Amino acid sequence: MASEEFFKLGIQSLSNDTRDSTRVSLKVPPKNRGDFLFRPGQYINIKFHKGDCSYLRTYSICSSDTGENLEFAAKHIENGVFSEYIKEKKIGDTLSISRPAGHFVVSEIKSSCLLLIAAGSGITPIISIAKSFLESNQRNKVILLFCNKKYETMMFREDVQDLKDSYISRFLVFNFFTQEYQETEFLNGRINASKIEFLIEKKIINVGHIDEVFICGPLDMTKILAQTLERVGFKKYQVRSEIFFAENRAPIRAELTSGHYTGESSVIEIRLDGVRKFVSLAQGGDLIDSAKAAGIILPFACKNGMCATCRCKVLSGKVQMHQNFSLEDWELKKGYILSCQLQAIDDKVILDFDNI
Ligand SMILES: Cc1cc2nc3c(=O)[nH]c(=O)nc-3n(C[C@H](O)[C@H](O)[C@H](O)COP(=O)(O)OP(=O)(O)OC[C@H]3O[C@@H](n4cnc5c(N)ncnc54)[C@H](O)[C@@H]3O)c2cc1C
Ligand code: FES
Repeated sequence: MASEEFFKLGIQSLSNDTRDSTRVSLKVPPKNRGDFLFRPGQYINIKFHKGDCSYLRTYSICSSDTGENLEFAAKHIENGVFSEYIKEKKIGDTLSISRPAGHFVVSEIKSSCLLLIAAGSGITPIISIAKSFLESNQRNKVILLFCNKKYETMMFREDVQDLKDSYISRFLVFNFFTQEYQETEFLNGRINASKIEFLIEKKIINVGHIDEVFICGPLDMTKILAQTLERVGFKKYQVRSEIFFAENRAPIRAELTSGHYTGESSVIEIRLDGVRKFVSLAQGGDLIDSAKAAGIILPFACKNGMCATCRCKVLSGKVQMHQNFSLEDWELKKGYILSCQLQAIDDKVILDFDNI
């Protein structure tokens, strides 16, 4: 990704799906419609200032198609910077929004049946995928497994109900609650391996009929479910996951994994916006911060391996990542890396942010 551009979009409406979330509809002016074409499941980055500090946060688009409006929904995190910021916004205020990005999208190969799994605010990209997929072809089918604490904390509950009403024979939904008792015992508690196995046993999930699976929720849930799905017969490439939050990375020492490299710093050549620049990266240093100190602003958002805004291609040199929750195997094989997680294990590394 070359340098990220931001566009000022006006807030058209603000609503509260639940007491602790805000749903925002932004007006996309006709001249910017091309900039905001998106594929359901993609996200935008929002740049904002509070006090003297500048922040970036990532939000999945929850609208189902590109039009006059672009929607996202933010769950309020206690004392969260954006969570507090958005509560103060009014209709007519503007937000600085990046172009849509991300690979959590239905593949180009013709899929006709999807299994979607969401927990809490993980429903945001999932609802966009579900709506657009059901609308796009009258043979398409969707099974949604959706887990929340209780009914009142369930984001997009009306949208889910509307989809049920509109696509009775093609949309099947199971609502699981962890803090509200339901008579059907199966629907109580988190979505876990045994619930998936039960649905397979009852032939509700038919492994051979489902083309792709999308999981969005906490890290531990997505990991366990992805492993379960592979165990029961899905291929790795059929299962995509996205997470919204991970604890900050645990630093790793290069020599532990590389076996050889003992240099104290590396020279990183950065190819961005058609220009070559050089940054010295100390062992264990943060490339985004080191580049910034050298006057180079690299694209980034979460700085934690989750969003892939910082993705680039390694043209030469050995590198490894601290953690990766967003790049898929095919991207790693092609030499893509998350620059926010980069650890150089070579004297010189060349990174390309343009031709990716
Ligand atoms: C690809 C992607 C898509 C995303 N899409 C959405 C979306 O559609 N809707 C949405 O609500 N969020 C989404 N997020 C998460 C979002 O970007 C923010 O991280 C989140 O809203 C918190 O921002 P904040 O500024 O309010 O909190 P911060 O100020 O960043 O965090 C405050 C405190 O809460 C902790 N924290 C942050 N996030 C969480 C969390 N989710 N759970 C528990 N603790 C947390 C932090 O470690 C910190 O201690 C997405 C993230 C990614 C990477
Ligand atoms: S900035 Fe989000 S993965 Fe690197």
